[in-house]
Amino acid sequence: MEFKQQYAAYQQAIEQYLEGLFSQDKPYGRLQEAMRYSILGGGKRIRPVLTLEFARLGGIDWHLALPYACALELVHNYSLIHDDLPCMDDDDLRRGQPTTHKKFGETLAVLAGDALQPEAFRLIAEAPCMSDGSRVEAVRVLARACGADGMVAGQVLDTLYGIQTEEQLKAMYRLKTGVMISGAAELGCVAADMPADMRAQAVEFADQLGLAFQIRDDMLDVVGDEQVFGKPIGSDKEEGKITYVDVDGLEGCARAVEACTRRAKDAVAQWPDHDFLFALADQLVDRNK
Ligand code: IPE
Ligand code: IPE
Ligand code: MG
Ligand code: MG
Ligand code: MG
Repeated sequence: MEFKQQYAAYQQAIEQYLEGLFSQDKPYGRLQEAMRYSILGGGKRIRPVLTLEFARLGGIDWHLALPYACALELVHNYSLIHDDLPCMDDDDLRRGQPTTHKKFGETLAVLAGDALQPEAFRLIAEAPCMSDGSRVEAVRVLARACGADGMVAGQVLDTLYGIQTEEQLKAMYRLKTGVMISGAAELGCVAADMPADMRAQAVEFADQLGLAFQIRDDMLDVVGDEQVFGKPIGSDKEEGKITYVDVDGLEGCARAVEACTRRAKDAVAQWPDHDFLFALADQLVDRNK
C-alpha cells in the first residue's frame, strides 16, 4: 500500500478507537468533555501510527495493537495539556484551537491531564488478544517513556534548568520528546513480540526521528505559519527558552534534522519492508505542522 493510504488507514482506526473513549454522560461529564477535547482535537497521530507500523512489521494484524498505540497517545495528550499551562509554556493555541485550560479553565485542564494517565494504563491492562506478559511489558515501556526518567524529566530540564549547550539541548530533547516517540515504536514491537535485535533497531530509528522532530518543532516556532502549525509562533522566545535555533541557527537546524533523519533510516535500512518508515521520516523533515 502507498504511504499516504497506509497512514490514512492507521489514522482512521486511531480516530475511531479514541472516539469511543470517555462518555460524557456522567454527573462529572465536564471532565470527559475536556479529555475528549484534547484527544480528538486534530493531532497528527505520529506516535500511535509508529506503534501500528512496528506491530505490522512484526508480523501481527496491526489492529490488535490499537490499545497500546492509543494508550501512548493519551499520555501524549496529557503532556500537551500540562505543557500549555501558564506554569509551563503558557500557550493559548494548540492545533488551531484554544488550549484546554483556555477552553475549560486551569482546574479542569490539570485534572483532565491527570485522568488521561491512568486511563492509558487501563487501556493496556485491558487490551484484548495480548498475553499478560505482553501487557506487563507494555506498561513498563510506557511508564519508562513518560515517567520520572523520561518525558517528565525532559519537561523539568526544559522549564527549570538553564539549558545552554547543544549537548544539553539534545539530551533534554531526547527526554521530553524522543522517549515518547521511541516508546511508541517499542510498544508496536512489544505487541508483535519482536526479537530483541529488531526492537533495538526500532528504538534507534525512533530516537533519531524524535530528535529531528523536536528540532523541526523549534524551527517552526520561528518560521512557521500559525494558521498551518496551529500553535503560536515565537512562543519559545517569549518564554525565554534557548532552543536549537539559538544554538545552531536555522540552517544548522535544517542540517541537524537531515543528519538525524539519515541516522534514523540507517537503523532500519536492512529491514526488507522499510518503505513506510523511510517515507514517514522524509515527510517529517520539512513538515509545516
Ligand atoms: C507536539 O507533538 C509536542 C512536541 C513534541 C513538539 P506533535 O507535533 O506530535 O503534536 P500533535 O499531537 O500532532 O498535535
Ligand atoms: C513538547 O515540547 C514536549 C512535551 C509536551 C512533552 P514543546 O513545548 O516544544 O511542544 P509544543 O511546541 O508546545 O507542542
Ligand atoms: Mg514545552
Ligand atoms: Mg510547549
Ligand atoms: Mg515547541
